[in-house]
Amino acid sequence: MHASQVAPPSREEILRLLRTRFSHRHFRPGQEDVLQAVLTGQDVLAVLPTGAGKSLIFQIASQVLPGVTIVVSPLLALMHDQEESLEDVGVEVAVTNSARTDTQNAEELARIKTGEARLLYVTPERLTSETFLRELCALPVSLLAVDEAHCVSEWGHSFRPAYQALAAASRRLGRPAILALTATATPWVRRDIVEQLAMRSPEIIVRGSDRPNIFFEVRRMETEVEEVRALRRLLAPDAEGAEAGGPSCDEQADEIYSGAGIVYTATTRAARETAELLQAWGVSADYYHGQRAKRDRERVQDAFMAGDVRIVAATNAFGLGIDKPDVRFVMHLDIPASLEAYYQEAGRAGRDGLEARAVLLYRPADLGRAAFLAGGGRLDRADLAAVCAALMEHGEITARKLASLTGLAQTPLLRIVAALETEQVVGRRRGRLRLLRSTCDPDAISLEAEQRRRAYEASRLSMMRGYAETAGCRREYIMNYFGEAYDPGDCRQCDNSMRPGRAARTLQNGLFSVGAAVRHAPWGAGVVERATADALTVLFDAVGFKTFDLALVHERNLIEPCDEGV
Ligand SMILES: Nc1ncnc2c1ncn2[C@@H]1O[C@H](COP(=O)(O)OP(=O)(O)OP(=O)(O)O)[C@@H](O)[C@H]1O
Ligand SMILES: [Mg+2]
Ligand SMILES: [Zn+2]
Repeated sequence: MHASQVAPPSREEILRLLRTRFSHRHFRPGQEDVLQAVLTGQDVLAVLPTGAGKSLIFQIASQVLPGVTIVVSPLLALMHDQEESLEDVGVEVAVTNSARTDTQNAEELARIKTGEARLLYVTPERLTSETFLRELCALPVSLLAVDEAHCVSEWGHSFRPAYQALAAASRRLGRPAILALTATATPWVRRDIVEQLAMRSPEIIVRGSDRPNIFFEVRRMETEVEEVRALRRLLAPDAEGAEAGGPSCDEQADEIYSGAGIVYTATTRAARETAELLQAWGVSADYYHGQRAKRDRERVQDAFMAGDVRIVAATNAFGLGIDKPDVRFVMHLDIPASLEAYYQEAGRAGRDGLEARAVLLYRPADLGRAAFLAGGGRLDRADLAAVCAALMEHGEITARKLASLTGLAQTPLLRIVAALETEQVVGRRRGRLRLLRSTCDPDAISLEAEQRRRAYEASRLSMMRGYAETAGCRREYIMNYFGEAYDPGDCRQCDNSMRPGRAARTLQNGLFSVGAAVRHAPWGAGVVERATADALTVLFDAVGFKTFDLALVHERNLIEPCDEGV
C-alpha cells in the first residue's frame, strides 16, 4: 500500500495533530513544505539546518500515512532521545537495535505487526541485514526516512558503509517513498545521496542553512603558548594569575564566553588536557571522547545538559544528537577536516536562537596533522591481499567471518569489498560475499576510487583552510560552500565583516552561479561551489575542489556550463 493511493490529510488535520499531539503551536520554516511533499507519496530530499526540527516531519507523517514508517538513524543515542520524547507525548514507537536482546527486538517488531506502533527506528546495519528484512518485507511500509542522510555519501563527512545498502533494502520493502534528511550537504553530496539511495525524481527542498544568531570568528595564532593564552583570556578571564589584560572592549563576547560551551580538539589527549587546564583555572569543565568509559561519557553529557558542567572539551564524538538549546559558544582548537564537519559542530551553539559564537583558534602548523587525519583509513595493499586470500580459501563467506579472518575493522574492510565489487571480483548472494572469478589477485585490483577519495579529502581540507584564511565574509564563504547565495552586505555576524574596509567583497560572477553544473575537459563534471569576482571554485566528481582564475576560464574556455543541476 502506498501513500499516493490514499488522499493525503488536509492541512487542518495536520495542524491539529501538530498542536494536540506534539504540542507545538506552529511549524518551523521548511517543516510543512517537506511534510506536504512526503504525504503526496513522492521521494524527498530535505536539507534543513541543525535544530530545524527534521524529526517532527517523519514523526507526523507516521501518524497519518496508511502503512508503517521506518526511520533509519545512525546512532543508538539519537534513537533513544526520540523514543523518550515520543513517549512523553504518547506516540507509540518501536525501536530495534543491537543494544537490545533478541527477545526485546522481537517484541518491538511484534508491536509494529499488530499495528500498536506505526513508527519503527532501526540502524542502517540492522535494516540491511537479511534476517531482519525477511521479517519486515511482509509489512506495508509507506515511508522510509533516512536521517543524517549525508552518511550515505562516501564524500560526506561521516560515511557509514551500511547506508549504501539502503537502496537495495528499500526495494525489498516494496520500495516505499524515501525521505532523506540532512543538515549539511554540499550540492555535490546532494547528488550523491539521490544516486546512492536510488531516489526517483525526488523533490529537493533546501532551507537556509544560515544561522544568523551565530557570530563566526577565527583567531590566528602561531604557537601553542599563544593558544593556551587565548583560551585563558577567553574562558577564564578572572582566573588567579591571569595577566591583567585590562577590561575587554567586547562585553557581548565576554558574556558569551562565560556561558555554556564546547571546546573541540582533534585528539582524545588534547580533550583531557584542555579540561584539566580549564579546571586548574577554576572553570567548571570536563572532557568527553569515544575512548572514555561509557559511564563517564554519560555522566559528562548529563552534567552538561543539566548545566552542572559549564564547558566540555571533546573530540567530535561529542555532539551528534545533543539538543542543548543554550550552548553559547563552540570553540575549535584544531582545524577540522572539512567545512561540513566544522559547520555541523559550530551549529551546536545557539539553538535557542539567542546570540552565540563559533570561534576557530587557527594555527597553520596544525594543517599537516589535519591532512593526516583526513586521509585516515587509507587502503593498504597488504590488507587487500589478506582479503583476497580469505576469499580464495572460502569462496563464499559472510562479511563478519571475513572480518574475523583478516582482523580488519569494518570501515577498511567494507572499502576493500567495495573496490572488489566495483571490479566485479566479488558479488553478493543472500547477504554473503562470493568470489565471482577463479582467482583474486590483489595487484590486479585498481585502487583508483580510493585515490580519488584521498584527493577529495585533501581538497576539502584546503577549502577549510580557505575559510580560516579568507579576508572576506565568513558566512558568505560557508553559505557558498553549501550551494547557497549570501549577500555579505547583510552580515554583521563575522569578524571580517565587522572590520571596516577589510572584507573583500565576493560576487556572483554572472556566467557561473553557485550550484550550477559545469564541465571541464580533463576533469569532467563538477558543480560550482564558489563564484567571486575573479575566481571560481568547482567541485569535480573526479578530483575534488579546484579553484580557477576567472580571466583564464574566459580566455581559454576552460569550463562550460551544463544544463542539469541539483
Ligand atoms: N514546530 C516546532 N515548534 C517548536 N519546537 C520544535 C518544532 N519542531 C521541532 N521542535 C523542537 O526542536 C528541537 C530540535 O528538533 P530536531 O532534533 O528534530 O532537529 P533536527 O532538524 O533533526 O536537528 P539535527 O540536524 O541536529 O539532527 C527539538 O527539541 C524539537 O522538539
Ligand atoms: Mg535530527
Ligand atoms: Zn560576514
